[in-house]
Amino acid sequence: MRIKLARILDELREDHRNLSRLLDLLESECKDIPDDGEPDMELLLDIMHYMTVYPDAIHHPREDLVYTAMREHCADLAEGLENVPDDHREIAELGATLREDIEAIISGAAVTRQHLLEDLVNYVGRLRRHMEWEEADLFPRADSLAREKETAAVDVSMYMGDDPVFGATSAKSFTNLLANLQRVQ
Ligand SMILES: [Fe+2]
Ligand SMILES: [Fe+2]
Repeated sequence: MRIKLARILDELREDHRNLSRLLDLLESECKDIPDDGEPDMELLLDIMHYMTVYPDAIHHPREDLVYTAMREHCADLAEGLENVPDDHREIAELGATLREDIEAIISGAAVTRQHLLEDLVNYVGRLRRHMEWEEADLFPRADSLAREKETAAVDVSMYMGDDPVFGATSAKSFTNLLANLQRVQ
């Protein structure tokens, strides 16, 4: 299935708005917790599960397709794009580390709060910086390609899938996450 560049950029920007809300929720769950309290670990796990099934599996691969199209169509738009797949890989690895911490805590293993917070700060900061780079630099470059070549499109057949939280039909397994998102709106 081919999607025009202009449309896919709209969708990628919407994904970023949604991801920002989840990163805010991750942070707000973990700050201001009293020493004897604990963050809502099931909610943290839901968020990190979503990161695996949508951003890592659909959003980042679709961006990789857009950046590949930019490198093919327009060499002068391509500076730095070769670094993006490594960025996406690093974000997925930091996310996996954080998810493993959360799973370990839920199963009763001794993971300190300090350790959890460090991994959370690393993940949130890395993903935020990456999205800021894309919004400020990469997406505007892709916009100019979309304007110059109105027919430019990418084939997303390999990376199809509805967003299970923010899409038209949300998955039952994310009901708790959705309720918490509405709470902090
Ligand atoms: Fe990206
Ligand atoms: Fe992105």
